[in-house]
Amino acid sequence: MVTDLTKTYRTPFRRRKVEALRGVSFRVARGEIFGFLGPNGAGKTTTIRTLMSLIKPTGGTAQILGHVLPSRAARMRVGFLPEQPYFYDYLTVPELLDLAGRLFGIDRATRKKRADFLIDRVGLGRARNQNLKKFSKGMMQRAGLAQALMNDPDLVVLDEPMSGLDPIGRKEVRDLITELRDQGKTVFFSSHILTDVESVADRVAIVARGQIQTEGTPSELVATTTISVDITMRVAGLADDKVAALVARGPGKSRRVADELHVVLPADADVDAWLAAAHADGAKVVSVSPRHESLEDLFLRHIGSADSSAAAMEGRV
Ligand SMILES: Nc1ncnc2c1ncn2[C@@H]1O[C@H](COP(=O)(O)OP(=O)(O)O)[C@@H](O)[C@H]1O
Ligand SMILES: [Mg+2]
Repeated sequence: MVTDLTKTYRTPFRRRKVEALRGVSFRVARGEIFGFLGPNGAGKTTTIRTLMSLIKPTGGTAQILGHVLPSRAARMRVGFLPEQPYFYDYLTVPELLDLAGRLFGIDRATRKKRADFLIDRVGLGRARNQNLKKFSKGMMQRAGLAQALMNDPDLVVLDEPMSGLDPIGRKEVRDLITELRDQGKTVFFSSHILTDVESVADRVAIVARGQIQTEGTPSELVATTTISVDITMRVAGLADDKVAALVARGPGKSRRVADELHVVLPADADVDAWLAAAHADGAKVVSVSPRHESLEDLFLRHIGSADSSAAAMEGRV
């Protein structure tokens, strides 16, 4: 649980202040996958670094697993993948995991068992004996994920776990996240890519400009706003000028395909009146359906489509 977190960075050189977090509050329920979605620079990493007690917030408080931060007890139960994992690159993966296990005070036999299991689980079996410095970005990401799971955490915090991975790698991370949730763990992960979040998260918060813009389940977020009402009518046998009159009545846009006329009315149109009039003109209504805002529409609306990182959000860069 995070309450009213603020963070102002002071850059000593230009004596400029950066308000990275401007009152961030949210609550993650036990056992859920929570997606922290926002464009580059939104404040995701700052929030996560605060949760890991790597930086001190300027204001606000946070609790993890019932412990007010900073808390060593909480840290022992959390697994963490940093955004840009940096490990001593003369280590191999088994050595890295063994070191992580020792930091958590895990005994040798358990360390060995967990490391072997996790190396296989993240698909690094064949790279066991390689130094990390030979690892690609994707392999490093996998090593980081394994490292984050060494303490068999109750809460897993992953900062951009899919970044640098190809589509297959992204899918594997999504599957791993789901598996962790199914084992009863809580997963909190950040991403700037909508599709990575919407397909796996039980709940999503959209963060932009240091503030939570909206929060909910993916279906709640999209079901709340009707953006138009789509109507399909059969106009077979109707004179062209009748059809033209139907179209001219407006409001909305229409398109004729053979004997069907598709009309898109704005969400606030008087749909009943429109249908009655169309019926009186001899059109036969085939379907009437509300169209809801897609998660992508919602996302772009909240981050502001003028935002230069909009393209990044859609995964185009
Ligand atoms: N150490 C720092 N010093 C100064 N400004 C920073 C520092 N770290 C991040 N920022 C700024 O804080 C804002 C939020 O950054 P960050 O939390 O990294 O965003 P995200 O992870 O969502 O991309 C950005 O404007 C970024 O430039
Ligand atoms: Mg970040």
